[in-house]
Amino acid sequence: MPEQGQLIESPIIVTKGLRKMYGPHLALDDVNLEIPRGSVGILGPNGAGKSTLFKCLLGLITTTSGEGTVLGHDIRSEGESIRSKIGYMPEYNALDPNLFAIDQVRYAGELLGMNSKNATRRSHEVLEYVGLKDQRYRKIETFSTGMLQATKLACALVHDPEILICDEPTNGLDQRARSFMLQTLSRTVREGNRSVLMSSHVMDDVQEVCDNIVMIHQGRIVVQRSIEELVKQVDKEIELVVWGGASRMEDKLRSSGLEARRLGRVIRVKMESDETIEEILRAAVQSSVQVRQMKEYEPDLEDIFLLIMDKLGAEIKGTEDLMTPEHTGGA
Ligand SMILES: Nc1ncnc2c1ncn2[C@@H]1O[C@H](COP(=O)(O)OP(=O)(O)O)[C@@H](O)[C@H]1O
Ligand SMILES: [Mg+2]
Repeated sequence: MPEQGQLIESPIIVTKGLRKMYGPHLALDDVNLEIPRGSVGILGPNGAGKSTLFKCLLGLITTTSGEGTVLGHDIRSEGESIRSKIGYMPEYNALDPNLFAIDQVRYAGELLGMNSKNATRRSHEVLEYVGLKDQRYRKIETFSTGMLQATKLACALVHDPEILICDEPTNGLDQRARSFMLQTLSRTVREGNRSVLMSSHVMDDVQEVCDNIVMIHQGRIVVQRSIEELVKQVDKEIELVVWGGASRMEDKLRSSGLEARRLGRVIRVKMESDETIEEILRAAVQSSVQVRQMKEYEPDLEDIFLLIMDKLGAEIKGTEDLMTPEHTGGA
């Protein structure tokens, strides 16, 4: 495998004008993607079209129009070749409760064309990799949600795919299982040198694993770039904690021509120039408040997502809102 960043590689996934309708319902519209090797987070509220996009890329459902390739294979006609090179962890549980974990994973391998001996050997390896070494001979019906998700991941990895597609891999997991899942996915990218596409409606999850991001909203791609570039695009802010007159301070900052927003004692001021800090201190003296803390504020993905949604005119105020149906564009 080439070192990262040394070669400009061709994208592993390309789509052009992809559109998917379920009857009269438009689920994906004019999706143009160029996904590089590495880790990509597909971020969007419920109903945005994430699962539909994955199913189109895997050739599991027919697209209405447009085209696309995965590792050079046509998504419209070469689904089987695509699925032999991709591991897919679906959103829903399709595991057989009566099977031992080891047999479920081996069976997944055999369905993907592996011979029984290889499938068995790999089942042991991948179950250990996902943290289920000691549960290999337990029936799936006894598994917790975290163990079910890990089994699904093992099934997706059994044939050692070049690309792993995970649909909401952290859904329903408690903190410990979630953290282990994200670590395992990161390891698959960074140590295993595989590409991972994961969807989520949780910004933090994506930020932990992915270098690149695709934001999807009502079936359309609204952002497609590296997280690093995205973060750079956002205005820098200075965050202050003030005592004794935060709202007076806010007014003073505004009347000095600075852009300020306040959350209780915390005020964030847009960093306009090198003089901004001096202007803040001057405003503090003039409004007789104490500045207890002052630091550069690093926007996180959630801030950025909200900012983008704001620009799009969507009335989304926080991650919680992303979960409610009226914002999902779905029925
Ligand atoms: N099989 C289906 N039949 C009809 N509508 C569907 C079907 N699957 C998904 N949809 C609709 O398509 C839109 C996108 O769904 P989906 O891809 O599941 O979104 P996400 O995975 O981002 O939550 C939603 O409005 C959903 O209701
Ligand atoms: Mg989904």
